[in-house]
Amino acid sequence: MIVDCDPGHDDALALLLAVGDPRLRVLGVTTVAGNQTLDKTTRNALRMLALAGVDGVPVAAGCDRPLVGELTVAENIHGASGLDGPDLDLPVAEVADVHAVELMRRLIVESAEPVTLVALGPLTNVALLLRRHPEVAPRVRRVVFMGGSTERGNTTPYGEFNIVTDPEAADIVLRSGLPITMIGLNVTHQALATEQIIAEFRGLGTRLGTVCAELMTFFASAYLREFGLPHPPVHDPIAVAAVIDASVVRTVAAPVAVELTGTYTRGATVVDLHHRTGAAPNVDVAVGLDVDAFWDLLMTAVRRLGAPA
Ligand code: RIB
Ligand code: CA
Repeated sequence: MIVDCDPGHDDALALLLAVGDPRLRVLGVTTVAGNQTLDKTTRNALRMLALAGVDGVPVAAGCDRPLVGELTVAENIHGASGLDGPDLDLPVAEVADVHAVELMRRLIVESAEPVTLVALGPLTNVALLLRRHPEVAPRVRRVVFMGGSTERGNTTPYGEFNIVTDPEAADIVLRSGLPITMIGLNVTHQALATEQIIAEFRGLGTRLGTVCAELMTFFASAYLREFGLPHPPVHDPIAVAAVIDASVVRTVAAPVAVELTGTYTRGATVVDLHHRTGAAPNVDVAVGLDVDAFWDLLMTAVRRLGAPA
């Protein structure tokens, strides 16, 4: 798989799950502007891989703004660094000297088998890959993205952050004809980092476990302040969990469109769950989550990564 992300507290957990579960092979990590500016999301991805003790996985920086319009970061949620909370000052690997889209292309073309793209931020890099290099599409097994919602949004009343940040990119991906799985807020809000989960991270007794506890403590404070929610939903790792074990999420095939011109609804994912539009289904939409199975996958991966070698 290739993980495209904008770390971001929940992206950080997703990266740990991706490199910590032995059933996955992370060919590369690409970063995109979203939760924070590209320089910060890239630094944060490098930091998380260093913390996880992973080397040899290339990290390439991608787009620093959406296809149309300007970037608005989520500093109110993720802080000035994009990973506020723990002290993450540690040596990191060098970022690759190629653009994320070129790294994606190379990894896909060089892979002996089709590659799963897991997209955890705005879909700008993925959209550009598909537009610049349509020849790689047959070698993409599936795009699994965290974004959108079958219900309401979190950034505008009907818009989820990743899609609202770059609606045109989401539109390109959703119209690509590729197999797509959508992990929206309607399921991610079932995976809440409660005090019990934070205590479980801290109870691992490893630096990685403590960092996860500190990340979630900061994330919780932000969600309480911004949304009045006492426990933050960990959105992104659910997309990775769905690749490890498809039974973690229940999906239905449905037509999904992105609103591009709505005065109040630009960036909304319009999910036709009851097939009212007559449009052909283009997305496998997550509508259920095995919450315990998800947390077990994530905790097991973090425990495995933090265990003394
Ligand atoms: O709306 C939640 C999504 O936006 C998550 O991927 C979070 O990391 C932010 O990118
Ligand atoms: Ca993200």
